[in-house]
Amino acid sequence: MTRILTGIQPSGPLHIGNYFGAMRPILNLQERGEVIVFLADLHALTTVRDAPTLREYSRNAALDLLACGLDPERSLFFRQSDVPEHAELMWILATLTPVGLLERAHAYKDKVARGLPASAGLFTYPVLQAADILLYDADVVPVGKDQKQHLEMSRDIAVKFNEAYGPTLKVPEPEISEEVATVPGLDGQKMSKSYGNTVELFLEEKPLRKRIMSIVTDSTPLEAPKPTESSTILALYRLVASPEQVAQMAVDHAAGGVGYGDFKKRLFEATWEHFAPMRARRAALLAEPGHVDEVLRHGAHRARTIAQEVMERVRAAVGLR
Ligand code: ADP
Ligand code: TRP
Repeated sequence: MTRILTGIQPSGPLHIGNYFGAMRPILNLQERGEVIVFLADLHALTTVRDAPTLREYSRNAALDLLACGLDPERSLFFRQSDVPEHAELMWILATLTPVGLLERAHAYKDKVARGLPASAGLFTYPVLQAADILLYDADVVPVGKDQKQHLEMSRDIAVKFNEAYGPTLKVPEPEISEEVATVPGLDGQKMSKSYGNTVELFLEEKPLRKRIMSIVTDSTPLEAPKPTESSTILALYRLVASPEQVAQMAVDHAAGGVGYGDFKKRLFEATWEHFAPMRARRAALLAEPGHVDEVLRHGAHRARTIAQEVMERVRAAVGLR
C-alpha cells in the first residue's frame, strides 16, 4: 500500500488558507492509502520561541486536525518530538548533507531576509525534514508548491546516503498539489499569517463576522456592476458556498444594485455554516479532556515502531552497530 506522509508546523492558529491549501488535501488522501501526519513541533521551534505559545499552538493544531476529519483509527497521527528518532536520523543525514545544498534553500533565505535570526536550526531545517520523510519509508509526500525545493533536497540526501552506504533509504516522490489555488486574504494578497490578513478557522461568531466585514473592496457605488474577476469576497465564497449560491452572487455582482456589505454578510453566513460540523466536533473534543493526548500517545507509539526499524537499518549501515 502506498505510504503517504506529511508534516504540519504548529507555528500559529490555522487559517482558511491552510485548511483549503494543506489540510483538506491531506484529509482527502485518507481514501487513497496509508496516511501519516505529524505535528512538526521541532521545526516550529525555529520560529516560535516561547514554551506556553508552542504548547498552545501544538494542542490547537491537533484539535483542529481531528475536528476537521483526521481519523486516528485509519491514519497515523503523532507529534514529531515524541519520536526521538527524527533528531537522531537528522544528525546522521547532516554528516553527508553538503552545506552548498542548504545555502541554496529559498525558504531559509526568505526567512532570514524577513528578519528571523539565522540559527543553525533554521539553516538545517531541510535536513530534519528529510529525516521526517526517510524515517518512515514514505512513498509519496504531498506538499504545496512552497515545499517543492525541500522535497528535492530530501531526495538528494537519500540518494547521497544510498551512494555512500548502499541501498538503505527509500527515495520519496514529491506530489505537488498544483490544483489548489492560493486562497486570498482580507487584503486580496495571499492569505498568510506573515501578512496579518487571515481568517482563522475556528473563530467565534462575532470575531469571524468582524474579520469578514473587514475585507478590502473597491469603491464601486452600490448601484453599479461590480468586477467579479478580482473579487476577494467571491473567491472565498466559492470555497464555502454551494454552486447555486455562488452563481447567484456572480449574477448580483454583474447586475449592480447590491452592495459589498451584503455580499460580505452572505460570505459570513456561508463560512459559519461550512465549518459548523467541524466546530461541533471540536467542541466535543474539548469536552473530553485527555482524548487528544491519548490519540497522540497512541500515535507516537505506533510511529516509533516503524521509526526504530528504519533506524536499526541506518545504524547498521553507517557502523553505529
Ligand atoms: P502561512 O503562510 O500562514 O505562514 P504556512 O506557510 O505555515 O502558512 O503554510 C502551511 C500550509 O498551508 C502550506 O502547505 C501552505 O502551502 C498552505 N497555505 C498557506 N497559506 C495558503 C493560502 N493562502 N492558500 C493556499 N494554501 C496555503
Ligand atoms: N516544512 C513543512 C511546512 O512548513 C512542514 C514539514 C516538516 C513537512 N516536515 C515535513 C512536510 C515532512 C512534509 C514532510 O509546511
